[in-house]
Amino acid sequence: MRTGKVMGRDWAEARRADRVRLLAATLGAALAGRRRFTFELGSGHGHWLAAYAAARPEESCVGIDLISDRVEKALRKREKAGLDNLVFLKAEATEFLDALPADTLIARTFILYPDPWPKKKHHKNRFIQPESLDALAAKSAPDARLHFRTDDAAYHAWTCEALAAHPRWEILPGEPWPFEQVTFFEERMKARRDVIARRKD
Ligand SMILES: C[S@@+](CC[C@H](N)C(=O)[O-])C[C@H]1O[C@@H](n2cnc3c(N)ncnc32)[C@H](O)[C@@H]1O
Repeated sequence: MRTGKVMGRDWAEARRADRVRLLAATLGAALAGRRRFTFELGSGHGHWLAAYAAARPEESCVGIDLISDRVEKALRKREKAGLDNLVFLKAEATEFLDALPADTLIARTFILYPDPWPKKKHHKNRFIQPESLDALAAKSAPDARLHFRTDDAAYHAWTCEALAAHPRWEILPGEPWPFEQVTFFEERMKARRDVIARRKD
């Protein structure tokens, strides 16, 4: 007999599969004909990616965030600036990666001021984990870059350690940060701790 717990898990998995299907359809249309794009995971109010997309009109850019209000604010910035190389979507990161069309790859990922989840019991909520680095590598182009910036010393150390131990990412110590624009959260946090990694073959 199926227990309530098993039925709950089946239901959650079915809901996830529905969201991934919907996202795949949206992405198929939004990225039609674009083989590579720049990705911001947790784009918040969209300040950073809107400025980046305006400065690099030749790149296609996609920002995702879990919070609807933030995505709406980001979309208003996109409209105001008339940026047709920029897409903002409400999406969860692992679902977004699962939904990406097979012929479309990430050229560079930016993760800027992610929630640091400082308590040990919450570390499992950090995006940087061996499994999510696997998933990101699988959807990234050869030589793609991962740019990670935080104010939090512990999350920075955690990320450096995870990247150094991961077979598909290589830290590039001398690589310059490619584009500066203060993000909404950076303005409050002030400190900058960066790491850049390359996707290995
Ligand atoms: C601290 S905010 C930083 C926002 C922005 N990068 C900035 O610097 O202003 C982190 C953002 O990541 C989003 N986020 C957290 N986990 C996520 C996930 N799994 N998928 C998508 N977005 C996520 C949150 O909703 C939040 O807006």
